[in-house]
Amino acid sequence: MLAVPSLPEPAHPVAPQGHRVELRGVHFGYDPGREVLRGIDLVLEPGTVTAVVGPSGSGKSTLVQLLPRFFDPTRGSVLLGGVDLREIATRDLYRTVSFVFQDVRLLRASVADNIALAVPHAGLDEVVRAARLANIHDRILKLPRGYDTVIGQEAGLSGGEAQRIAIARALLTDAPVLVLDEATAFADPHTEQAVRRVLATLKGERTILVIAHRLETVAAADTVVMLENGSIVERGGPAELPARNGRFAAFWRSHWSAAADAGGPAGGALRGDESR
Ligand SMILES: Nc1ncnc2c1ncn2[C@@H]1O[C@H](COP(=O)(O)OP(=O)(O)OP(=O)(O)O)[C@@H](O)[C@H]1O
Ligand SMILES: [Mg+2]
Repeated sequence: MLAVPSLPEPAHPVAPQGHRVELRGVHFGYDPGREVLRGIDLVLEPGTVTAVVGPSGSGKSTLVQLLPRFFDPTRGSVLLGGVDLREIATRDLYRTVSFVFQDVRLLRASVADNIALAVPHAGLDEVVRAARLANIHDRILKLPRGYDTVIGQEAGLSGGEAQRIAIARALLTDAPVLVLDEATAFADPHTEQAVRRVLATLKGERTILVIAHRLETVAAADTVVMLENGSIVERGGPAELPARNGRFAAFWRSHWSAAADAGGPAGGALRGDESR
């Protein structure tokens, strides 16, 4: 940990004006000579939900990790409220952007402290409210000492449970921008429901960028962007994209044909069927 270089702080921080997020001509690669993102242009209007879809390895997680500045673009820029992230004080950035990623790390601390990580003064009632919304409250009550249970010492949590803790944490933070990497690996029904509830509750209130693996998440979005090999190859509303019969339609057919055959995610979800 000590060897990891910390984020360079701007010498003269600039305050973002609002919460509009914009990626302008963003290129990024982990290793020199191998680009993972190739010229991404994307605007997230305040209060909208944008879903990112695409094959494994297309760069979805890399893309969304640029928002909390896990990496800086090698070319182009990510702007928040019109200001390049590199010019925003880290404090301001993390007050604005909250995130739930595939690889959730919890601390060896109480469940309550884990949820209140970014808001240490939060009351238990607020923690419980976030946990309920994240669909993890009932599970927490079954732990040896409830919200006081120390994770990793008195109890272990599954990947899906850990992700729901992370969702509760992000909800409590109240940051206007939320980045969510919906994990396929932990796609248990409880976590799916948590994600569904988060989108339903926060839609219109927060600016959400979600990596979607399920049709239902795509259907809940205002805009869908399809990523392939580090580029956006198609974008549009969830209702219009399938009808266009382009990259999205092809991807979705191959992605979901097996699930659909098994009576899986309903195609009707794309037509706004919220009957579930
Ligand atoms: N930390 C890393 N170091 C080097 N290469 C990486 C790293 N993380 C991801 N990559 C590479 O970057 C590319 C994009 O990976 P990324 O994780 O963004 O894809 P993804 O679209 O999120 O895939 P998935 O749907 O499987 O989660 C892949 O080729 C991957 O091997
Ligand atoms: Mg990923």
